[in-house]
Amino acid sequence: MSGPAPARGPREAAASARVIGSTGRKRAGTVLEAEEIDGIVADYVAGHVPDYQMAAWLATVACRGLSTAELVALTRAYAAGGGQLDLSRVDGPVVDKHSTGGVGDTTTLIVVPVVAACGVPVAKMTGRALGFTGGTLDKLESIAGLRTTLPVEEIVPMLTSVGMVLTGQSADLTPGDGATYALRDVTGTVESIPLIAASIISKKVAVRADGLVLDVKTGAGALIQDRARAAELVRTMLGLAAEFGLSARAVLSDMSQPLGPAVGNALEIRQALAVLRGERIPGLWDLCAVVCRLMLQSVDPALTDEQARARIDRVLDDGSAYEMFVRWAVAQGADAAALEAERLPSAGRRLPVTAPESGWVTGIEPRSVGQASLMLGAGRLTYDAPLDHGAGVLLRHRVGDRVGKGDVLAELCYDSGDVARARALLESAFRIGDTAVVAPPAVHEVFAPDARPALVPGAA
Ligand code: URA
Repeated sequence: MSGPAPARGPREAAASARVIGSTGRKRAGTVLEAEEIDGIVADYVAGHVPDYQMAAWLATVACRGLSTAELVALTRAYAAGGGQLDLSRVDGPVVDKHSTGGVGDTTTLIVVPVVAACGVPVAKMTGRALGFTGGTLDKLESIAGLRTTLPVEEIVPMLTSVGMVLTGQSADLTPGDGATYALRDVTGTVESIPLIAASIISKKVAVRADGLVLDVKTGAGALIQDRARAAELVRTMLGLAAEFGLSARAVLSDMSQPLGPAVGNALEIRQALAVLRGERIPGLWDLCAVVCRLMLQSVDPALTDEQARARIDRVLDDGSAYEMFVRWAVAQGADAAALEAERLPSAGRRLPVTAPESGWVTGIEPRSVGQASLMLGAGRLTYDAPLDHGAGVLLRHRVGDRVGKGDVLAELCYDSGDVARARALLESAFRIGDTAVVAPPAVHEVFAPDARPALVPGAA
């Protein structure tokens, strides 16, 4: 980000005038022209517009929403000036996936190697933590030596030699999204349907895989909490993908409690490795199994649910999904022995949070768990804050579990940070009741590709 404006010449002055005028027009309800949107994003990427003016423009878009034409223009603008992967050099169809993010969501780290081990190459661009949610790129940085961002020219060779690629967004691909993503994180403009849709679909346009699965979260720990609005985000993204000629499937998945028991960067890498070694962690694996199936079917529509499940179970049980992850990590620079021995950052201290009374766990508020982890250094409050990759939270129970008074509900894992605040947040996250409850399903709804969606502009 460019920070407060330094000495400004005529070019910067013109760019500022454009963005200020556009912000005013958008606030007044005018539909912006594609060229105007394109120019604003390009000026910001080039450093001609200061952060505070771009933040005001994004905030106005978040409040007023975008028309279909504006949404398509913003998506195009995010990808403009960036590269485009040439997947024609890869044998067979390639698949991609994206999740809107949540707490304890290690889905990418699991489904990418599973699907790749099934013989379908997966190309996935990943992002950093947004707000209280985790980011795959931050998690991957827990692995010593791993090059988390590959130059564009290395992506296709990695796909052909290994079968999967996970890379952070580089300046070469979707530069507009890259520039605005970090700014949105620290200016309260993450939770907007059009901004999320344009951000995600611009990355999918740059990869242009043959199959695409979108995992949109709903519930208290999701960027869009309300179920009807989350379904609107699904339809918006499916419609936007179709506008760019991408065939996509989607799931609306549950984020009313953390998806998996580990929350924090290295903790989540360990959790993913445990699943890849065959441990089917409830909730987390339930979602992964559906996403893997949809990814396989997105490039092979004739594959039945049973056939897909059998392939997924096979690669999990015979170790090939785990081997795929290790082979990929080593190809991107990780040390095989260190990874296999799980020599990852680890917090030196643990503090348990216990049940104040006996009963059933009726709720685990995911935002509080995510914030607790952030307070220990696992997430960031300012865009350039360093992370403590070993810090985080380990949950010992899920919604629906019976617990006795004094049982350990969760542990804080830390070396520093605001432990008192993290503890208070974690304690407040758990609801214990005196009647049994059934845990919500991991997947609420699957959106088939043949239901051609309407493009719904996200409104305030
Ligand atoms: N993931 C993204 O890539 N972008 C968003 O805006 C939100 C989640």
